[in-house]
Amino acid sequence: MTTIKSEPQSVLILGAGSDIAFACAGLWAKEGKHILLAGRNTSELDRRAADLKVRYQASVSVHLFDARKFDSHETFYQSLPYRPDIVLCAFGYLGDQAKACHDFEEALNIMESNYTGAVSILNIVAADMIQRKSGGIIGISSVAGERGRMSNYHYGSAKAGFTAYLSGLRNRLAHEGLRVMTVKPGFVRTRMTEGLPLPAPLTATAEKAGKDIVQAWKKKKDVLYTLWMWKWVMWIIRNIPEFVFKKLKL
Ligand SMILES: NC(=O)c1ccc[n+]([C@@H]2O[C@H](COP(=O)([O-])OP(=O)(O)OC[C@H]3O[C@@H](n4cnc5c(N)ncnc54)[C@H](OP(=O)(O)O)[C@@H]3O)[C@@H](O)[C@H]2O)c1
Repeated sequence: MTTIKSEPQSVLILGAGSDIAFACAGLWAKEGKHILLAGRNTSELDRRAADLKVRYQASVSVHLFDARKFDSHETFYQSLPYRPDIVLCAFGYLGDQAKACHDFEEALNIMESNYTGAVSILNIVAADMIQRKSGGIIGISSVAGERGRMSNYHYGSAKAGFTAYLSGLRNRLAHEGLRVMTVKPGFVRTRMTEGLPLPAPLTATAEKAGKDIVQAWKKKKDVLYTLWMWKWVMWIIRNIPEFVFKKLKL
């Protein structure tokens, strides 16, 4: 039987401008982990790094990373000051579904920001972790990936691809004694959903989602729904017969 490695000490956050990711960063910083914040907007990340340093006396560094610049990913990863023990892949782009239907650039942005970009960087991360025989990966996918809906099937299909990728990667890395956790948030109140009319009982704060993620990783979960009731909401949605589903306006 393969054994799981001990609790890691440094965390790379890809898409660290994410509100959910930053909530996780705060909790890990509090535990004394070194935090590597990576994203496109480094001046915002510098501000967030300063905040973590003041609040938790944390060790934090900031790194430029664009999920869509595939050619830069190897150099980005090799240039990090530490080999990360946990990688949180948090970047994502909801996009504009109506626009994506007739503007392929928008569709491509959605696909690359939620799927292709993640595959590109996580393949590099996984190869390194396998070679080191150490590390673990957390990917933030979405419940939107569980069934295509007319209101967001570009985003949903990209997240479906990412969920399947994470499942396969988990299967592969389990044979190396390494872990992969898939996170499936329902609604979370963040910059991504700003201004959207979200139902309060089914909507988490970024802080709640972050806490759920950090706890679920400690509990060695494979798949996390946050909030928890989304597991059952999606069970119902997945089981609606197609002849009924196609007539709904979801
Ligand atoms: N909020 C929800 O209801 C919800 C539900 C299900 C799943 N999710 C998923 O949860 C994750 C975190 O999202 P969030 O809600 O925390 O939203 P958020 O605050 O808008 O964060 C999304 C982050 O992704 C980054 N990003 C987008 N494209 C990128 C690229 N090409 N390269 C690097 N970074 C890129 C953005 O960077 P910039 O700061 O540079 O724009 C932003 O920091 C995403 O994967 C999202 O799809 C969210």
